[in-house]
Amino acid sequence: MRKSSFNGESSFQYKRGELFCEDTSISQIADEIGTPLYLYSNRALIDNYERLKGAFKRVSPLICYSLKANDNLTLCRILAHLGAGADIVSGGELYKALLAGFSPKRIVFAGVGKTRKEMELALREDIFMFNIESRGELELLENLSSELHRKTRVSLRINPDIDPDTHPYVRTGLKQNKFGLQMEKAEELYLKLRDSKNISPKGIHFHLGSQITRIDPYLKCVDKMAEFISHLRKEGVDLEYMDMGGGFGIGYRGKESPLDIEELASRIAPLIREHELKLIMEPGRYLTGNAGIMVTQILYRKRGKERQFLIVDAGMNDLIRPALYGAYHEIKKLRQPSKTSPMEVIDLVGPVCESTDFFAKDRNLPRSAQGEYLALMDTGAYGFSMASSYNARPLPPEVLVKGEKWTLIRRREVYRDLVRTEAISLEEKNVIPSYTIPFVKLQGTGNDFIVVDNRANLIKDPGALAKKVCSRKEDVGADGLLLLEESQKAYFKMRIFNPDGSEAEMCGNGARCIAQFAYLKDIAGRRCTIETLGGTIRCQIQGKKVKIGMEKPRDLRLNLRLSLKGEIYEGHYLNTGVPHFILFASRVEEVALEELAPLIRRHPKFRPQGTNVDFVQVTKGNTLKVRTYERGVEDETLACGTGAVASALVGSLTCGVSSPVRVRMKGGDLFIYFERGKDNNFSQVFLEGEARVAFEGKISEEAENV
Ligand code: LLP
Repeated sequence: MRKSSFNGESSFQYKRGELFCEDTSISQIADEIGTPLYLYSNRALIDNYERLKGAFKRVSPLICYSLKANDNLTLCRILAHLGAGADIVSGGELYKALLAGFSPKRIVFAGVGKTRKEMELALREDIFMFNIESRGELELLENLSSELHRKTRVSLRINPDIDPDTHPYVRTGLKQNKFGLQMEKAEELYLKLRDSKNISPKGIHFHLGSQITRIDPYLKCVDKMAEFISHLRKEGVDLEYMDMGGGFGIGYRGKESPLDIEELASRIAPLIREHELKLIMEPGRYLTGNAGIMVTQILYRKRGKERQFLIVDAGMNDLIRPALYGAYHEIKKLRQPSKTSPMEVIDLVGPVCESTDFFAKDRNLPRSAQGEYLALMDTGAYGFSMASSYNARPLPPEVLVKGEKWTLIRRREVYRDLVRTEAISLEEKNVIPSYTIPFVKLQGTGNDFIVVDNRANLIKDPGALAKKVCSRKEDVGADGLLLLEESQKAYFKMRIFNPDGSEAEMCGNGARCIAQFAYLKDIAGRRCTIETLGGTIRCQIQGKKVKIGMEKPRDLRLNLRLSLKGEIYEGHYLNTGVPHFILFASRVEEVALEELAPLIRRHPKFRPQGTNVDFVQVTKGNTLKVRTYERGVEDETLACGTGAVASALVGSLTCGVSSPVRVRMKGGDLFIYFERGKDNNFSQVFLEGEARVAFEGKISEEAENV
């Protein structure tokens, strides 16, 4: 029996001593976005769906994915694309199912307590089927259907009183459970519905429970229901559909066998055909369970009186199954233990203030050290979907892996998210005294910035604040104020304000400083992306050095001749985000920059936008010395990132310098990395330079005044 997906092979395997998801190293993702995190394998998800579909292919069932198992939009979208329908239990799930792209024609709606509003929403969407669980609910649906002039398709959910032999908390088909209708009651209602104008009885529904690993309860129930349907047909109620619910169990323990789905299908399909029924099923766990894991990091080891604890950074709020059901999840180290690794018996616990906050008790595991990553396996179902922010813990991010690629499909919540829906009541608003805004002053080659984490939206008027705090003699003093804010597209957003209060699009030095800041403050990892008004940029941090990805250069014009004050000057034009004109000189110090640069900057050849001007000297090897005159500043500046890039690329075309090129500017050294292709085409252009903290401080008063 295979445990997970694709040709019988799990999507989570050790390769080269590390746990991989498909072809991606999991610890690399954890390094980059931090832990705890949920991670899913695209391949496992698809394979689970195809396997189920394949097993039942003789009766082509409508497979309605049970959203409650994991309602992540991306995962739902993948399943919708494969042709799945959706099993929903609330207005919220209806909303998410539609957003994910499930066709309303494939949506079935279960649940013992549907509200009038939820029913109305579903009726307006004309969903495929309502699974009705009580007389009261049926009456309300009938009234609403009449108001909306609908004839609504309905299945009654039967409580078959069959023991599915699973955890008591996830049994649903026993007579003491709140779910479904007793058969006698159901019969009464079906007979009444024969004459209903607004309800069309179409099917029968049952759901025995969850994590069922034996096929007998299903067979017993299908038999019972088929008999019931035959009886009803004789009474003139002609049902077409049998919805057998979900509950298909998976193998949580290595040796435990999951439900034998092929066997189940081979036994059920003949019954379905014999009774000329159409089959609906509502799998949740079966599709997503083994496609997902939760990754956590060991914070501390602690020896109790009787036990050894490993305290990790995930808590019961992130994964509640062990606390709620005593559920077992296999634990794997991301670093593969050797065959001779010493073993130890531990309790794996989280940081939440509850004694039930544990993931494993008395578990025999290869010894792990503080800082190591662990994976809690088979947590793709009822993992994230049951997570909460208990103990004010932001919800973890979710990642989808496809082969060698991974995508963040839900960002980590930030503290701001914890209070997003709260409003402080008016009476309480003014009782808190003024507060201060912490900032960090950073400096990157030739520029200095004040950086503020504004994810909590503390700053109401950033322009006014920039004007005040950037002022050199009166306040902190800086070339700009950088605000780090939340982003839906990137790890975070950078907003940059000039000392005059205006907002700028982008600044390479600023981007390097804010990336360093985000790294030091644990907001992003060594690699991140930054959303700016000028587009999204990529960053990599190594110590004090920060590398940023540059736009593809364009509009190259080599050997342009300009006549200036009666003399001819030859140079080269290239746009590296902004326009640059490059002139080579044997000694840049001796160039009459003040005189020449303003003339070039406004030369008719560069109208209307003008150009920046760079004087470049090739010193030794791959080193250039560059002086830049910047448009806008209208003066020579200490350093200019786009100018350094333009100088290096033109240098590669005309003087044979090659990547990486060191560019010495007054403000310090920059390094340019690039790949040169055919036809003077450049790709993978990166700019690297220092970005370091000068000091930290607090801005007072402004918080109130600005
Ligand atoms: N259909 C109905 C009507 C259901 O109530 C459920 C699950 C399903 C389908 C999908 O069941 P599945 O195929 O995923 O077993 N939180 C628990 C499981 C609760 C299941 C609730 N109903 C756990 O973590 O084990």
